[in-house]
Amino acid sequence: MSLIALISDVHGNLEALRAVLKDVEEQKADFIYSLGDIVGYGANPRECVDLIKKNCKHSLRGNHEDAVLSEFESLPDYREEAASSILLARRLLQPSWLVSRNLGRQLYLKSLPSNCEEGKAMFVHGSPRDEVHEYLSSGDIIILNLNSLFLPDEMRDAYLDEPEEYEKDMSEAFLKLKENFSIMRDASKDVCFNGHNHVPGILMDVRGRYELVEKARRGRHKIKFLDGREVFADEFVEDYALIHTTSIHDKPFQLGGEKTVVNVGSVGQPRNCDPRASYFLFDEKSREILCRRVTYDIKAAADKIRANGFPNLARRLFEGN
Ligand SMILES: [Fe+2]
Repeated sequence: MSLIALISDVHGNLEALRAVLKDVEEQKADFIYSLGDIVGYGANPRECVDLIKKNCKHSLRGNHEDAVLSEFESLPDYREEAASSILLARRLLQPSWLVSRNLGRQLYLKSLPSNCEEGKAMFVHGSPRDEVHEYLSSGDIIILNLNSLFLPDEMRDAYLDEPEEYEKDMSEAFLKLKENFSIMRDASKDVCFNGHNHVPGILMDVRGRYELVEKARRGRHKIKFLDGREVFADEFVEDYALIHTTSIHDKPFQLGGEKTVVNVGSVGQPRNCDPRASYFLFDEKSREILCRRVTYDIKAAADKIRANGFPNLARRLFEGN
């Protein structure tokens, strides 16, 4: 039984990765698992690939690895700035007589699997249903409640204007949650750790495992489980609960037998309005998880991204968005 550090979405941000690796060492984690997207966006894909290869017991493939290794010239699934940053990473990782170590880096990226598992835990970049490309995150529960405090006003207004559009999106979100948690149930997995959307958070399917929910008009809902544990959820809709990591930051969270998806956030491009790097610790013995946020030299990382011609990506590092 080990203490596992779960990192994801490093995205070529060497300063953030070094700071996280230092924190992982201080926390005395036994192993590090990387959940994909080592490259893209940031200025140091080569150095990040080398550090992940050296330090991680398991390393998974993300959609940015797929895009960098793809033989297609254009990347229609990505926004312009993301596509340009992927093309830059592709160039920087191109094997040549000048950078002979790139051959090894490319072979390493090509060798990455799309999942791994340990006991009742599974690890992917995207979701159980689509391990590399599907986003599975807090937004999938928030959308189920049109009155959610976390639903952006402009999104709510747009849905109120077009109720058919809302019905369609809500049905898709329900189906997505149902199918992903069913896959976990069929595979006898209680917890899935993922990344991909850069927003740390905990999603739970608690059906059949709780006896009481005290719904709050504003604030968090109390869920009492059959085994006596109590959990405070930021959102609770139809047996699905959401816990934002701002609620549990640096406080251990006890996993139970309910199906739980833990999005570990992003080391190198965080997007929940907190610019610190995000990662999780998972204690296999106690089954406690801990969300860690780590400060790093954002200016150094942003200056290099700006010098590569991506001022918007550089700005987003400071905003954590
Ligand atoms: Fe990513």
